[in-house]
Amino acid sequence: MNELIICRCEEVTKDEILEAIGAGAISINAIKRLTRAGMGLCQGKICCRLLSLLLSDELKTPLGELEPYSVRPPVRPVKFSALIADEE
Ligand code: FES
Repeated sequence: MNELIICRCEEVTKDEILEAIGAGAISINAIKRLTRAGMGLCQGKICCRLLSLLLSDELKTPLGELEPYSVRPPVRPVKFSALIADEE
């Protein structure tokens, strides 16, 4: 049992990642869909490198040969009042 947190934003452990890979997730996007790792506030900025290393190790595939994953910029909520203040 390995409770090492890989994705801090979504609190996903190494065990959960390995379980997803064991269930057939052979890409970072598939791991993200099964565990929500990489879908937190930082949008994978912190954890996707670790996910890639785990996946590469488990599949015995070089990092450069893994399927590229979707990257989205981190989004933070902005109050409308901040936008209005900018216009005035
Ligand atoms: S640490 Fe995984 S999404 Fe932020």
